[in-house]
Amino acid sequence: MTTPAKGDGTETSAAGAATLTKDAAAGETLLKVTGLQKHFPIKKGLLQRQVGAVRAVDGIDFEVKAGETLGVVGESGCGKSTMGRLITRLLEPTAGKVEFEGKDITHLGVSGMRPLRRDVQMIFQDPYSSLNPRHTIGTIVGAPFRLQGVEPAGGIKKEVQRLLEVVGLNPEHYNRYPHEFSGGQRQRIGIARALALNPKLVVADEPVSALDVSIQAQVVNLLDDLQQELGLTYVIIAHDLSVVRHVSDRIAVMYLGKIVELADRESLYRAPMHPYTKALMSAVPIPDPRRKHAKSERILLKGDVPSPISPPSGCRFHTRCWKATEICRTTEPPLIELRPAQQVACHHPENFEDQAPQDTVLLTAAKEASAFVADEVLAASAQTSVAVAAEANGSTEVEADADADADADADGQESTDRQK
Ligand SMILES: Nc1ncnc2c1ncn2[C@@H]1O[C@H](COP(=O)(O)OP(=O)(O)OP(=O)(O)O)[C@@H](O)[C@H]1O
Ligand code: SF4
Ligand SMILES: [Mg+2]
Repeated sequence: MTTPAKGDGTETSAAGAATLTKDAAAGETLLKVTGLQKHFPIKKGLLQRQVGAVRAVDGIDFEVKAGETLGVVGESGCGKSTMGRLITRLLEPTAGKVEFEGKDITHLGVSGMRPLRRDVQMIFQDPYSSLNPRHTIGTIVGAPFRLQGVEPAGGIKKEVQRLLEVVGLNPEHYNRYPHEFSGGQRQRIGIARALALNPKLVVADEPVSALDVSIQAQVVNLLDDLQQELGLTYVIIAHDLSVVRHVSDRIAVMYLGKIVELADRESLYRAPMHPYTKALMSAVPIPDPRRKHAKSERILLKGDVPSPISPPSGCRFHTRCWKATEICRTTEPPLIELRPAQQVACHHPENFEDQAPQDTVLLTAAKEASAFVADEVLAASAQTSVAVAAEANGSTEVEADADADADADADGQESTDRQK
């Protein structure tokens, strides 16, 4: 695979691409977010008076290290896209701070943001609506050069063709229009456009959820390859853990505008501590040979996610949590590090000393949170998980293991489900 040339006109090699994060060496903090909030005002009446607010992102803290992939997961409406748009500064935060390479960028204006626009790029969910149907692929992928006034060595056309090749497309298709491409190919075009200016941070918002399962795996693995090759740093947003589990170094789990658990991938999969994480994970049959004979407990989260206009008091998850007690209703648990590299916001964390408090009254009965899983939900999740794993390992071995795992799970389950 060839490497994109630097947007400032100097060529880079694969080795040279490591300089992409030259200002923040691998492992150093590239992005730091503190107390970040986005409240969308709700206005009513002739005078358009504010009568409330959608608390889409309601005070989150995290860091992204150079060269790593942070996965962000959570159900629909929990604020993932809003968070992505805040850190790429496509949205103005209501409160909090965003620092990029140590510089406070929270309230930078258009001119202050211009250099940052090269360093931080976004890949969008829908490859059908994110590409202008009236423009050729050449124009679309070449747009960042024109917008930033950058002339790559050899000219824009040559560079765009090289980028198309990098993402696995035919450079001769330069003059074609988006409708002539499949969904997976369109997403590759979106990736080529995002890579044009050699960004340091790429925020990918549900980059594969509009694609077929087999194509999802290819695109996820393309992103993974590009990261290795170019030393990119990613924030990958998904509603499904099976998409992020193979590519993330750390994973943040969001619920109603908050991060409820933030941990490295291994810890999160081995021993999730937040009940919500456990529920999300229980819907993903994991193709892990070591768990072949493990019986898994599946958890169904009943009801819809509460409204972010008036989130529940205390722990926001208490209206759906099978372990909720009185303190959960009254007191918001802070996000604290309970194990090295594992931050959790819960009064009764899983896989920890204080688990289910047997002697206190549960607000919701455990049984209520369990029911049989909808087969199609599990099947779809399993398919994605297996396809991504098989593609990553380049073998079909995992598929067999996953089947065995699913069979084992099917045996003795008190089975349940999650909702998207
Ligand atoms: N521009 C806006 N104005 C008002 N409310 C908004 C706006 N954008 C998002 N919201 C609301 O903020 C909340 C979070 O939305 P967001 O799109 O960030 O969620 P999400 O986690 O990305 O969901 P999905 O998985 O469906 O993409 C939702 O309740 C949404 O309706
Ligand atoms: S046990 Fe309590 S604090 Fe923990 S997730 Fe459930 S409701 Fe929230
Ligand atoms: Mg979204």
